Amino acid sequence: MAEQTFKIAAVPADGVGKEVVAAGREVLDAMAAQSGGKFAFDWEEFPWGCEYYEKTGRMMDPDGLATLQEFDAVYFGAVGWGNVPDHISLWGLRLNIAQNFDQWANVRPVKFLPGVVSPLRKAGEVELDWVVVRENSEGEYAGYGGRNLSGRGPGNEIALQTALFSEKGCERIIRFAFELARTRTVKKVSSVTKSNAQQHGMVLWDEVFRRVALDYPDVATESVLVDAMSAKFVLKPEDLSVVVASNLHADILSDLGSALAGSLGLAASANLNPERRFPSMFEPVHGSAPDIAGRGVSNPIGAIASGALMLAHLGLAGEARRLEDAIAAATASGVLTGDVGGTATTAEMTAAIIGELRH
Ligand code: NAI
Ligand code: MG
Repeated sequence: MAEQTFKIAAVPADGVGKEVVAAGREVLDAMAAQSGGKFAFDWEEFPWGCEYYEKTGRMMDPDGLATLQEFDAVYFGAVGWGNVPDHISLWGLRLNIAQNFDQWANVRPVKFLPGVVSPLRKAGEVELDWVVVRENSEGEYAGYGGRNLSGRGPGNEIALQTALFSEKGCERIIRFAFELARTRTVKKVSSVTKSNAQQHGMVLWDEVFRRVALDYPDVATESVLVDAMSAKFVLKPEDLSVVVASNLHADILSDLGSALAGSLGLAASANLNPERRFPSMFEPVHGSAPDIAGRGVSNPIGAIASGALMLAHLGLAGEARRLEDAIAAATASGVLTGDVGGTATTAEMTAAIIGELRH
């Protein structure tokens, strides 16, 4: 028996989700085996996703949330496949878990790995390392709104998609961002809104940001509109450390960040319930990538690096760093998948990372 055994629910779901979750499990199990009995993982895998939906009419088991509640963490792949509409698959599984487990903080590091070519010319010259903190429970993805509001039928439909901003929701994510900034070398928080055009919710966010900032005089701040921030990601990313934004804005900005780092396949993410009343969920940022799924060529780094975020959350910070170093050593050695210009398969990339762990 290991000193510490973590119960992890694996939910690979669809497409490349299956390949990258398998890769991540292999790496995490290798680390457990190397720990000499310090820690182990007790995995249970769930078959939920679009195939499950086609058989049962549900994206997950009706008792699924109660089942997951018993686990220390959820290790997730990606959802979305075939003829299941994306809004059904996303809401039925990933958002269902994130919303009901109050995983209100979504942490998405933007990491530049050695050996991976970035489309940013200055990437090799200046230190680039920032993290997007996404409000993960309200904002534009709160799910409020409706269809057919005009009552006048096809051709005259009106739909509302309402963003919800609560003062408490803004405050907790902004405070989380400041606390995270305090742990980093560059202590700075950039807040992103579109408060010039959206004068209710986003002005509230800006006000809460200014108020919370007063409690952190040691942390530098800036407020930037989302359109300007997208330009800044490309033109002045060396200015960034922690970027906090609403659900939609941070979703888009984190894809931009991972593309700048070289590929969507590299990006990791943690959906945290900071109070730890519910399990947190760790998943790559990317989707099910139907264009490459099933060929064994997907990049497992996003999922494996999400495993590192999970290790840190489980209290194994040293192991998390060891894994991040092994990922960097593997890319530096020239082992790369096709999305970042290499020829390695998912299995070869995974084996290279496990090989670096042994050093
Ligand atoms: P996607 O992230 O699946 O793919 C976008 C592009 O990135 C594709 O060219 C794909 O080949 C590439 N890519 C993604 N992951 C990669 C990896 N690990 N290695 C190498 N290349 C990779 O986004 P897309 O195409 O917009 O959506 C596909 C499906 O995924 C949809 O059903 C969508 O709803 C779903 N989706 C699910 C997410 C989740 O579960 N968190 C997030 C985003 C999309
Ligand atoms: Mg996204």
